[in-house]
Amino acid sequence: MKYQSIKGTRDVLPEEQKYWRYIEEKIGSVTSRFGYQRVEPPIFEETALFLRGVGETTDIVEKEMYTFIDKGKNSLTLRPEYTAGIMRLYLENGLHSLSKPVKLYSIGPVFRYERPQAGRYRQHTQFNVEALGEQEPSVDLEVMSVAWLLYAELGFSGLSFQLNSTGCPNCRPAYVEELKNFYRRHSEAICDDCKRRLERNPLRLLDCKVKSCQQISADAPVIHERLCEECADHFATLRLYLDTLGRPYRINHRLVRGLDYYTKTVFEVWVQGIGSQNAMCGGGRYDGLIEQLGGQATPGIGFGSGIERMILGMREQNIEPPKLPDPFIFVAHMGKAADLRAVELVTWFREAGLSALMAFGQRSFKSQMREANRLAVTYAVIVGEDEITANHATVKNLANGEQQAIPFDQVVAVLKQACERQRC
Ligand code: HAM
Repeated sequence: MKYQSIKGTRDVLPEEQKYWRYIEEKIGSVTSRFGYQRVEPPIFEETALFLRGVGETTDIVEKEMYTFIDKGKNSLTLRPEYTAGIMRLYLENGLHSLSKPVKLYSIGPVFRYERPQAGRYRQHTQFNVEALGEQEPSVDLEVMSVAWLLYAELGFSGLSFQLNSTGCPNCRPAYVEELKNFYRRHSEAICDDCKRRLERNPLRLLDCKVKSCQQISADAPVIHERLCEECADHFATLRLYLDTLGRPYRINHRLVRGLDYYTKTVFEVWVQGIGSQNAMCGGGRYDGLIEQLGGQATPGIGFGSGIERMILGMREQNIEPPKLPDPFIFVAHMGKAADLRAVELVTWFREAGLSALMAFGQRSFKSQMREANRLAVTYAVIVGEDEITANHATVKNLANGEQQAIPFDQVVAVLKQACERQRC
């Protein structure tokens, strides 16, 4: 093979289609029940939007962006996450004039130059949700519930929330100082990455994956015990909602997430048994982001969830999506006049809403019927010289072998009725 797919990317093959259809249908159904509307920003944006929106000291901006200079000498970046682009879309299109909260969702590709492994790719497809303009903790619950209901309806078991509050500009700075002082006392023992993070992005020390750093961070000061009154009330109310609904959650003081915009609530949904990438989704509140991007102060909360990761999880939990329906009709034909009639028939069937396939070229009836059986169609519509002369098609029900002659001008109506009866 001369060409190969790029490392960290993957091809979606027909075998996977039933998963994509099923997940996309469920996303459509769940989001409409919560009143979310779909928006799609372009795949690339000005690089500056992500520097400002995601944060210059994040791993995403420092190491993972696909940035390029276009022929007009503009620095552009393939989106490494959705939120910054959605904020730009919200501001640029005046969506702030809609009634609040403005509830938006998107589904599309996201690009990060990461170390590829199972469930972690350089291009993945994200289902992203944002609710803008409302600061009540009931909105946090609602956004978290979108993720929860989606996974529950897809059939996942062993779901639970990981939850934390990262405070706000009132309470976080004092906490960060305390955190820095704590880690300075351990500066000899932390990894080189953490030594760098200590000055540039100290919260990220808490979610370092290196074992020795994890042991140290177990004793680090806990942010949700140092929240200001407003953040503490917000966090307590959210927990009360989760308790009332009986949603399992674990407060994880090391959950700080990899993007700079978060304030107050951060959360992930974890699913048992999907290996090291057990976070099915991640998100949180970002009450300062829109202002930081030049808009009026507007609270917001959202999450992102990788579709490939959902498929991986479904496979690991043996969740079988419904089979895609088999085609309903196969038109077999023999001879020049029959070939023309077959082209007409499949066209009429499809225009009437029926799924219909035909044989291409001239092949024996035997080989065409073998193909009809292989495709598991319900009806074969056979057109040969005799049928052309008699002006009818021979329609064979492949499930019971019954065969009848139906005039060409009635065959669409007859099979349409059969399809309705059999809910094809
Ligand atoms: P994130 O945690 O970076 O958050 O990504 C969200 C989700 O996208 C992850 O939980 C995972 O399911 C999927 N994901 C991320 N990176 C990869 C990858 N390399 N390969 C496969 N799947 C991946 C965000 O992106 C935030 N913008 C979410 C958000 C929206 N926060 C507020 N609103």
